[in-house]
Amino acid sequence: MDFLSELRSRLRTALTSLTDSPETFVDMLKPSQDGKFGDFQANCAMPLAKLVKQTPRDVAAALIAKLDVADLCETPDIAGPGFINFRLKTERLADETAKLTRDDRLGVATVTSPRTYIVDFSSPNVAKPMHVGHLRSTVIGNALCRVLQFLGHRVLSDNHVGDWGTQFGMIIYGYKHFRDDAAYRGDPVAELARLYRLVNQLADYHDLVANLPKLREKQAASEMAVATARQTSAAKPADKDAARQAKKVEQELVDLKAEITSAEKKVGVVDANPALKLLADAHPKIGELARRETAKLHAGDAENKRLWDEFVPQCMAALESMYKRFGVQFDMALGESWYNPMLPDIVDELKKKNLAVVSEGATCVFVEGNAAPFIVQKADGAFTYATTDLATIRYRVETLHADASLYVVDSRQSEHFQLLFATAKKMGFDQTEFRHVSFGTVLGEDRRPYKTRSGDTIGLESLLDEAIQNARKIVDENSAHLSEADRANVSVLVGMGAIIYVDLHHNRDSDYVFSWEKMLATNGDTATYNQYAYARVCGILRKGEVDARELRAAGHAIQLTSPAERALALQLNRFTNAVADVSIDYRPNLLTQYLFETANCFASFYNDCPVLTAEPASLRASRLLLCDATARVLKQGLELLGIGVAEQM
Ligand code: ARG
Repeated sequence: MDFLSELRSRLRTALTSLTDSPETFVDMLKPSQDGKFGDFQANCAMPLAKLVKQTPRDVAAALIAKLDVADLCETPDIAGPGFINFRLKTERLADETAKLTRDDRLGVATVTSPRTYIVDFSSPNVAKPMHVGHLRSTVIGNALCRVLQFLGHRVLSDNHVGDWGTQFGMIIYGYKHFRDDAAYRGDPVAELARLYRLVNQLADYHDLVANLPKLREKQAASEMAVATARQTSAAKPADKDAARQAKKVEQELVDLKAEITSAEKKVGVVDANPALKLLADAHPKIGELARRETAKLHAGDAENKRLWDEFVPQCMAALESMYKRFGVQFDMALGESWYNPMLPDIVDELKKKNLAVVSEGATCVFVEGNAAPFIVQKADGAFTYATTDLATIRYRVETLHADASLYVVDSRQSEHFQLLFATAKKMGFDQTEFRHVSFGTVLGEDRRPYKTRSGDTIGLESLLDEAIQNARKIVDENSAHLSEADRANVSVLVGMGAIIYVDLHHNRDSDYVFSWEKMLATNGDTATYNQYAYARVCGILRKGEVDARELRAAGHAIQLTSPAERALALQLNRFTNAVADVSIDYRPNLLTQYLFETANCFASFYNDCPVLTAEPASLRASRLLLCDATARVLKQGLELLGIGVAEQM
């Protein structure tokens, strides 16, 4: 049972006699951090006391007098300055737990008003090396889809692939000039990725060579600025502004030097490689020409369109094989190209409504509080990523009737989404929730963005292979009793689970350092730990030769005779809150946290309470039911995250 919501609703009723706005105080009732303070605790008496000009303890006492919770709890007590502590009646907890153990949904309620969610995730730029960020988007987006669906919402997953961008100009240019036919026949996607990187590298080379003299001039000016600022600051040691100014210009110089070093390095790589240098010299205008190929494609050039038609399906097939490994399915993968015909209309509408203005030849929307313009058409007439996203919004709202549209995209695009959502609102799309579900960067041990060895789609696949190989070592160590085939299967679950879980258990906003060792630890907050916990519980049922279906159907009561048993029962009843919590701010880590706590609760329970040898038979049955429910909660919870389990590990 959802005790938390029930208690909050009772508290709401009691609060109405004290305040006109009970809602602000209801959420101050929370699960207790420490069992010492009961099962739930409300700290609303303190802020209320200020409003009604009484002492917090008096307010707490008045609330308790009004609270009608006798069927659920012991009489609440007041602690410290005015905390109200609730302790569930153990018999009631036992009864509700018994119901949960028989419930298909393990007590997880469905929402009363289902919404239509579009979840835009993964969304890589096809034919361009896919990076770990896309993996993060895939994992987080998949978990959110599963959770929202389980809660009863209508969910449409959309892979908004970048299949119309400037990378195609590079690939087409590369294909026309540098392709290796045998390689293309053997592995077209790998060859296209190579061509993309090559053209990019050569175009970069020419840009950097042209730009370096300017950068060096800038460095000289910056060094002067630093010297001056230091002098000023030294002359007035107490002047904080001068010190700040000196710091600022020093930092600018550091950044500039880093930019120059990196440019020199990139130029050096080409200069030092005779074959590359030859290509660079033979294609001095490569950047410009690649852009022209993109423009030709967009203008409907037959040859370029033919190549595009050939490239895209091959790239999509390669992506598909990766999605399969994650168990990810998309309801739609419309992609940027699909919206192409709708773009002129969007710009027209913005102009007609006086929302867009032409600035330096480009058509832009200016959003209050943002210096950067939202460019919907460039001076050369090209539409942009922004225009496509506006067309996408129109389609999602008008045709798909979205109540909410989630964009699972890395945090570097936050400005784009801020401008996009503000513009959409101006256009009248103001009844839909638009959310950038942003996430941080995956870092290597060197704290720089993590790169797979080859840095492309294939690289991501080999990352998964590596995870499975590493998992194999753990499985061989811990599960020597399993057959070769079982160990291979389990290794896939453990390896994939580790990759998925490590991503989800971090607060999505933060960056994290990728570490094989940590993510595969059998002890700690990992998928592996939860998967082993699941298998352990299954092992108990197996050893006891328990038929779980019969056990559930037999109508046994739950007996909560010891603290660990009671704590586990309470934890199982919180599953519904954990799942719902994920959907509030789209945070899967709230579910991983819950599962980890559940596995820990189970460990304490199993440590304190014998199961198979428990007597009398009714106590044994009760404990077996707790085991069975724990296994089901772990399995269901992991499944919602996109992680599989095995009964034997
Ligand atoms: N293709 C983009 C990228 O790889 C992400 C697209 C996200 N979705 C969107 N509707 N903008 O950076």
